[in-house]
Amino acid sequence: MEIVRACAGHLDGIMDIERASFPDPWSRGGVEVYLTDPHGAILAAVEGDEVLGFAIYHVSFEESELFSIAVAEKYRSRGVGRALLERVLVEAARAGAEKMFLEVRRSNASARALYKSAGFAVCGERRGYYESPRENAILMDIELDLVDLEPFELGDKE
Ligand SMILES: CC(C)(COP(=O)(O)OP(=O)(O)OC[C@H]1O[C@@H](n2cnc3c(N)ncnc32)[C@H](O)[C@@H]1OP(=O)(O)O)[C@@H](O)C(=O)NCCC(=O)NCCS
Repeated sequence: MEIVRACAGHLDGIMDIERASFPDPWSRGGVEVYLTDPHGAILAAVEGDEVLGFAIYHVSFEESELFSIAVAEKYRSRGVGRALLERVLVEAARAGAEKMFLEVRRSNASARALYKSAGFAVCGERRGYYESPRENAILMDIELDLVDLEPFELGDKE
């Protein structure tokens, strides 16, 4: 498995995972803009042509946000999500972010465990934030200066 900056050729695989993972998936167009967003990116965990998982994030000066992370069901619990998240933290820090925020459904135990183990801490809660089903969002954040900045190269965008 390798983690690369996603390109147009990964979009079908990303959308399959997005639709299978979330009750309220993003549209294809909504995901696609992050392939070329100068302040954000989609990282994809790939094996050959297959997309195993992806993460979408955005950096705005010293703050950054994790918008989405998902792994295809058959590849879960093998470290793919952790590898994606760790790479997102490094990329955001390299882009100048000092902090990253995220929102997660209160009931999403696996994602909350992943974020906690990566160093995120709960910093708030938004009532009724999610639709279908309606649920509170837990807000979490992490200081990116805690991240170990290992140098690495991401694949180029197509
Ligand atoms: C959340 C998700 C991305 C985790 O991806 P993954 O590849 O399965 O996770 P990993 O194998 O890298 O596990 C990393 C850590 O996450 C936590 N975790 C993962 N799956 C878990 C589960 N089923 N139960 C509890 N904790 C879990 C654990 O802390 C784990 O560390 P450990 O292996 O040392 O115990 C994946 O479950 C997923 O795609 N879920 C659906 C989409 C989603 O809810 N995304 C988050 C939106 S906010």
